[in-house]
Amino acid sequence: MSKFVAVENVEKTFPLANGGSYVALKGIDLEIRKGEFISLIGHSGCGKSTLLNMVAGLDLPTDGVVLLEDEEVLKPGPDRMVVFQNYSLLPWMSVRQNIELAVNNVLAHLSVEERKDIVEQNIQMVGLGHAADKPPDQLSGGMKQRVAIARAFATKPKLMLLDEPFGALDALTRGNLQEKLMEICEENHVTTIMVTHDVDEAILLSDRIVMLTNGPESKIGQILEVDIPRPRKRMEVIEHPNYYSYRSELIYFLNQQKQIKKTASQKDDRRSASWSRKSEPRNWVCAVNGLRSVGDRQREGLFCPPRVR
Ligand SMILES: Nc1ncnc2c1ncn2[C@@H]1O[C@H](COP(=O)(O)OP(=O)(O)O)[C@@H](O)[C@H]1O
Ligand SMILES: [Mg+2]
Repeated sequence: MSKFVAVENVEKTFPLANGGSYVALKGIDLEIRKGEFISLIGHSGCGKSTLLNMVAGLDLPTDGVVLLEDEEVLKPGPDRMVVFQNYSLLPWMSVRQNIELAVNNVLAHLSVEERKDIVEQNIQMVGLGHAADKPPDQLSGGMKQRVAIARAFATKPKLMLLDEPFGALDALTRGNLQEKLMEICEENHVTTIMVTHDVDEAILLSDRIVMLTNGPESKIGQILEVDIPRPRKRMEVIEHPNYYSYRSELIYFLNQQKQIKKTASQKDDRRSASWSRKSEPRNWVCAVNGLRSVGDRQREGLFCPPRVR
């Protein structure tokens, strides 16, 4: 496989306020081909955004490397565009101006005419010709996300990174935008990595679905190849003979991770219950005595030292 993006033995540890640390990801290895559409799926907090941010160059691995066309990713760059769930549009600018700003910055080497054409093409591509002069507060959530997608594609990035781009949208808008995104990605052959919670969205859009295990030390648990021909249509995908086996494989993995999480939290509960039983006399004294000083409590006859075991 010719690798366009390579994530090599990546680990990400976050320092914590209490002086400790949290190992979010460990031993992540992933190679992505040019033009591939990859989804990252896993339970909340498993490290999907952390991994995407490292590919974007918004954050750096604690260990290991991320390579884009054999160059180490050390900072954000115009060759990687990120689309977030909250659109991130400039509220005082119109749809057109928001897109123009990005195009003028990233494609400054092109002529004014060429840049104008690119802006207009991308406004049309997402079907927002009628709203091009409106500011974001006059647009619906779906329209705002269209602007964010058009802005990202207009700059002609090598790599498109989407972090739950449709998470805040209603089901109908979400469905329409998924189809639009699929169409745009297929036409432009842009390599894409998308974070999602949605199993059906992942199957519809992806060539491969990367499943992450729970943290701490999340790893790639499994990778599912979605072998459904393109261009894809939602109904054809649902009727594809492999659709239900893909779906059950993803759901089985997610349920298994949910079960592991539940068992771990039950163990924690049992540990803290046994701790609180052992320290019962002390807890009782504290509860009765509240926050008053030992001297006050002794005077009131409330202080009784914990029993020595
Ligand atoms: N800056 C940070 N400091 C400490 N912990 C963090 C930081 N960013 C993320 N984390 C932790 O890393 C884990 C993965 O986070 P994230 O990548 O946002 O998860 P996901 O996107 O899968 O929901 C979570 O447990 C989160 O609390
Ligand atoms: Mg996230």
